[in-house]
Order: sequence, then structure tokens, then C-alpha cells
Amino acid sequence: SQYQKGVKHLHEIGISRVPRRYILPDSDRPNAVYKRANHLNDATPNLKLPIIEFSELLGPNRVQVLKSIAKACEEYGFFQIVNHGIPLEVISNMIDVSSRFFALPFEERAKYMSSDMKAPVRYGTSFNQNKDSVFCWRDFLKLMCHPTEDVLPLWPSSPADWRRLAAAYAKETNYLFLMLVEAILESLGVWGATMNKTEEDDEILNKFEDGSQLMVVNYYPPCPQPDLTLGMPPHSDYGFLTLLLQDEVEGLQIQYKDQWVTVEPIPNSFVVNVGDHLEIFSNGRYKSVLHRVLVNSAKSRISVASLHSLPINSMVTPSPKLIDKANPRRYKDTDFASFLEYISSCEPKRKNFLETRK
Ligand code: SIN
Ligand code: FE2
Repeated sequence: SQYQKGVKHLHEIGISRVPRRYILPDSDRPNAVYKRANHLNDATPNLKLPIIEFSELLGPNRVQVLKSIAKACEEYGFFQIVNHGIPLEVISNMIDVSSRFFALPFEERAKYMSSDMKAPVRYGTSFNQNKDSVFCWRDFLKLMCHPTEDVLPLWPSSPADWRRLAAAYAKETNYLFLMLVEAILESLGVWGATMNKTEEDDEILNKFEDGSQLMVVNYYPPCPQPDLTLGMPPHSDYGFLTLLLQDEVEGLQIQYKDQWVTVEPIPNSFVVNVGDHLEIFSNGRYKSVLHRVLVNSAKSRISVASLHSLPINSMVTPSPKLIDKANPRRYKDTDFASFLEYISSCEPKRKNFLETRK
């Protein structure tokens, strides 16, 4: 249909109204009152997420920082990190090459379209354009990042520097993820330099070393009627942690105290959020929180989400150290592969994979 060309196309041809296909029912629109009880008065409050000074994790304040991380993961499921050590150039190059990718003619981008949800490289629009009943206002490019030697040759060959710049970015975020995961395990009290470790504990860290990494580059063009639609519908992320880079345009909202609140972008920082796998691993102590994306009529927005988890076929299971009489096991085991089956077989709209909740 005409919508398969995506929303950048609709913006370019200058539509002044959102086509019916993108119009959400009243109850799902950005300004719908989400739940009865509002703890916050403002209809669209902005939220300053807890800010973690990453560099301090490596110094004498580590224990304090770990506590802040634990609190953020329990209360918000989200935090922001600054002073993360990733060169600013790597970040600005990633945003820049992404905007050049989306500036390519549609035919060039379309080379990477695939109806296979599991394709290692997939360009598309909405969520699953073959199934969505209401489309969302988003075009995207999804890339698997490991194993590098297998997937890199499949990545877009245009812009000519795409592979080089996106690979540098993927490598840096993966390294940052590995350091964060260590901190997260330590903040949960299941791993740490000073703790009695079992082989299992080291094993999980080793597994992350060749874990899965999926990069999703999102492009949200201006939308003539942003109150009628969403850039991304409410969802939680399925991995262990997501590292999100957003440009200076706001759009990301998370659910906090029964309200949708906007996350204020901080230049060159990362928004980090707990995914379903970490919620399961932590036996519910850390929360995989619903989030969504608003669009606006003035500016296009780019974001790059890097989703990290265990290797695709390993089981995700609550840590035995976090299960006891007071905290009985709350989740069944799951794995990434079954998640992929799951998303390719159902309506993506809002389905938390915490179906696996026991
Ligand atoms: C996402 O949930 O991955 C989208 C984030 C965003 O565009 O801000
Ligand atoms: Fe997400």
C-alpha cells in the first residue's frame, strides 16, 4: 500500500493531515488520561531522570554510585549516564551518518526491507508494517551487531562510511554495556570484587561478553497532527539493558506513577533502561518500564537504541541469589529466541513479554 514507503515519504509529499491508518483510538492518544489517579498535576510533566556520573563508578565513590543505580532501577527502570567515556566524535558521527542514511532516496533504503522479523538487517516503517492495524509515525533501520564478521557485510553499503561509523558506535556501546552490567550485578548484590563468587557468577559475565546486541536507528519526521498518533506505542524492551541515544529533540516518555512523563534529553548522554530480561534476572527487583515516543509538528527526531542481552539461545532465569522465602521466584525461564518467535507471531502494539511472569 501507499504507506509502505514510510512516514518520511508522507512528510516529503507535504500531507497536511494524518492518514486514517495512523490515527489511534481516543484512549491511546498522547493526551489521553492514562489512569484515574494522577499524582502529578501538570498534564505533560518533564522528568529529570537520576543522573549517573559513569566515571565515578571507577573511583572511590563506586559504592555510592551503585546505590544510586539500584534506586533508579527500582523506582524508574531508567537512568541517564554522563561522563561515560565514549568519545563525543563517535556519538556525533553516529547521529550524523544516521541522518544521512535517512536522507538517501527511498529506493536505496528499501534495499534493506524485509518481511522477516528476524532478518539481521531490516529497514521498515511503523513497528511491523505487515501486521500493524494502526501504524506509528516512525521509520527505522534495525541491525544485528554480532558476530561482527557475519553481520557487517550485510549492513548498508551506503552512505559509504555507514559501516565504519556505525560499527565504531556499536563497539563503544557494547563496551559501555559490559561495564554497566558488572555494576548492575554488583548493585543487585549478586556479583562483586569483594564478594564470594561462584563459578556461575563469573559465567554470566562471560556470557555477556558474547551476548546479543541489536541496534535500532529510529527516524521520526515532523507530523502534521501529532496529537493523533505516536512515534512508538507503549512497550517495554526485551533485552537486559538498552542504551539509548537521542538527539536534542524530546519525544521519549516513560510511565512513572501512573503518568506519562517526558525524558528531557541531555546532549551526549545515554538513557539506560532495564529490559525484561533484567527484570526476570533480578526476580522483579528492577523494573522493565513501559515507554513510548511522541512526535511533533516542527522537527524531525533521531534516536539510536542499542539493545543488549545474553547470547540468543541462552536461558534467562531469575538469579538463585535473589530467590528466598521472602522473595519467591516470580518468573519462568525465557530466552531471546522465543521472544523473537513471539514478536513475529503477534500484534506488537503493547505486549509486555512479561507474559513469562509466573
Ligand atoms: C525506543 O523505545 O527504543 C525508542 C526510543 C526513542 O526513540 O526515544
Ligand atoms: Fe524501547
